[in-house]
Amino acid sequence: MAFAQRNLLGLEGVSGEDITAILDTAASFKEISERDIKKVPALRGKTVINLFYESSTRTRTSFEIAAKRLSADTINISASSSSVTKGETLSDTARNLEAMRPDAIVVRHPSSGACSLLARHVGCPIINAGDGCHEHPTQALLDCLTIREHRGSIAGLTVAIVGDLLHSRVGRSNVHALRALGARVRLVGPPTLLPPEFASLGVELYPRLADGVREADVVMMLRIQRERQGANFFPTVEEYSQYYCLTEDVVRLAKPEVIILHPGPLNRGLEIATAVADGPYSLIMNQVTNGVAVRMAILYLLVARSKAEDALETEPAAEPARGRRGVRA
Ligand code: CP
Repeated sequence: MAFAQRNLLGLEGVSGEDITAILDTAASFKEISERDIKKVPALRGKTVINLFYESSTRTRTSFEIAAKRLSADTINISASSSSVTKGETLSDTARNLEAMRPDAIVVRHPSSGACSLLARHVGCPIINAGDGCHEHPTQALLDCLTIREHRGSIAGLTVAIVGDLLHSRVGRSNVHALRALGARVRLVGPPTLLPPEFASLGVELYPRLADGVREADVVMMLRIQRERQGANFFPTVEEYSQYYCLTEDVVRLAKPEVIILHPGPLNRGLEIATAVADGPYSLIMNQVTNGVAVRMAILYLLVARSKAEDALETEPAAEPARGRRGVRA
């Protein structure tokens, strides 16, 4: 198993080999969620804290389910119910949580860089569940797993990522992951949300939706992130929708076997038509299912490794758990 990082803060700089190793581990975990008893003892006795400073349906729930399926104990903390409301800083909160000896902290925060900051202040693994406009690495990993399942390989595919690229942590993590795995990446959106410097990421920029989607193998739609837009990047949502909503007519420009992805939550009729979101090319629910397997893989790779290191400290001859695939009950 090549993945040897202590934290998962982002996918920038992570090699294709490491990403493939994570996807392989996630693929081996999928079967556990199909069992009658959906639990393996891999992280028994371990504690995972979900520290969410922003709302979430998919990410928070799937991290909790993932940890529970690995037999870890989970604690969920939201900003509104924590001492953040009394003025406590993020690093003080994390240091206090660490003093209770968790084995990993999963963090979602509205500020870019919040997870890197915490990783400098606490000793246990930090897993980025989305930080501001920076990265959302587990979302990109589940997107890659979904594409790989349906196409066999990612290398050589043309992937169009459409929408609010400027504010999208999902888009940014996907650019890093898809490029590392050998895909050709197109970024598609209004020029105000698609700065020319993005070309330095090794992608092609398309201001027109039809041009960006034409002959694509994968179309990944992004949510318009009005909560992160401090200014008006387009005149009205109606006009945005007129030019950038993925409709059935636009989908017909892509390859006949195109697959459609969206990280959710959906703004139906704004960035994606209901007929497309619920249509035959959509893998949006497959993405959600794969989110559990990817988060199981990340927790296993980061937390079971520290468990193996603990074992090595007391039992020098013990075989590290790293490198095992397909954990069985
Ligand atoms: N895709 C995603 O991050 O969804 P949530 O905001 O519901 O977690």
